[in-house]
Amino acid sequence: MLTTWIIFFGYGSLALGTPIPPTLQSPLRPASVPSYVLDYAPLVYLHSEDPYRPADIGSQVQNTRPEVDYTFIPGQYDLNNLDQLNLFGELYLTSKVDIITNPGWLKGVTPNSCGTTESAVTCAVITTDHGNGLVDAFYMYFYAYNWGGLVAQISSWNVGNHVGDWEHNMIRFQNGVPIAVWFSQHNNGQAFDYKALQKCGDRPIVYSANGSHANYAISGEHEHTIPNLNLPINGILMDFTDDGPLWDPITSAYFYSFDISTSTFTEYNSSYPTAWLNFLGHWGDKQYPDSDPREASNIFAGIEARYSDGPTGPIDKQLHRANVCPDNGNPCLIRETLTA
Ligand SMILES: *[C@@H]1O[C@H](CO)[C@@H](O)[C@H](O)[C@H]1NC(C)=O
Ligand SMILES: *[C@@H]1O[C@H](CO)[C@@H](O)[C@H](O)[C@H]1NC(C)=O
Repeated sequence: MLTTWIIFFGYGSLALGTPIPPTLQSPLRPASVPSYVLDYAPLVYLHSEDPYRPADIGSQVQNTRPEVDYTFIPGQYDLNNLDQLNLFGELYLTSKVDIITNPGWLKGVTPNSCGTTESAVTCAVITTDHGNGLVDAFYMYFYAYNWGGLVAQISSWNVGNHVGDWEHNMIRFQNGVPIAVWFSQHNNGQAFDYKALQKCGDRPIVYSANGSHANYAISGEHEHTIPNLNLPINGILMDFTDDGPLWDPITSAYFYSFDISTSTFTEYNSSYPTAWLNFLGHWGDKQYPDSDPREASNIFAGIEARYSDGPTGPIDKQLHRANVCPDNGNPCLIRETLTA
């Protein structure tokens, strides 16, 4: 295992020597966004074997239908009025077709050779200004599907899949200088000192794990524990990262600011849809009942579903957070060296 890790790590480091194309000036990129939010924006290596690439945020609404407690809510919804669904209760954007058939839209869009997901807006950048020169920039990454991985690498032991997947990095800036970076991973994540990270120029390098899209600072294998799944054997749940296609999220993004005191989002360009950011519901199906055939032969039934709830959106990621880490009772360790 250690040997494999070293090979993976060596491979990732080598890749940093290869040239990365300069960031394209996206037509979506508005002039008013602070330049440091763009200059220090993360670059993300997707996993070479991951079929589930970043996906268009608006298309998720078109490929799903709103449901509350498995009951369809009729109406026409898109990114400009999605928040109206909050009235109906705990909302789930539920796939129109059975996801067991693996419909093509779950796979999103592979970035082109310049790192852009063409004709798909796959990222939302949200800035929060804490005053006194302290600004957080959240880079919210959207994928249409999360493949949960295998327990102990046993192929029938696949759990934790869900429709919709929001992950993020957050960079904390002091007077336009990057200080620290948060990497979301499953229910929590890791924070690093900006100086510790691998970079292309000034831009931090991020690795998105195969299927789960958890964000890591290095390539290789990552032991993790799925939240609420307590297994007696440590390290049996793994994430894998490598330097597959390079994604430059800010070239396919909408940009917003979030006012902490009023909890309001403001678009940096009036052409961006904004109402969707106030949507409190889930971006995928509700966990199916244990009696559902899709949950059959899941030996972890009652512990971890094969198909769990779709995630809530950016508004639920503690945009107002005081520390680099979200406030969840865990200590906020700012790592000074690279680690899995
Ligand atoms: C807003 O976006 C439109 C369309 O992409 C663009 O023409 C315009 O220049 C942008 N405005 C600003 C202030 O960036
Ligand atoms: C990546 O995920 C796919 C399923 O989406 C799986 O078939 C493949 O084995 C995974 N690769 C690694 C290295 O985990």
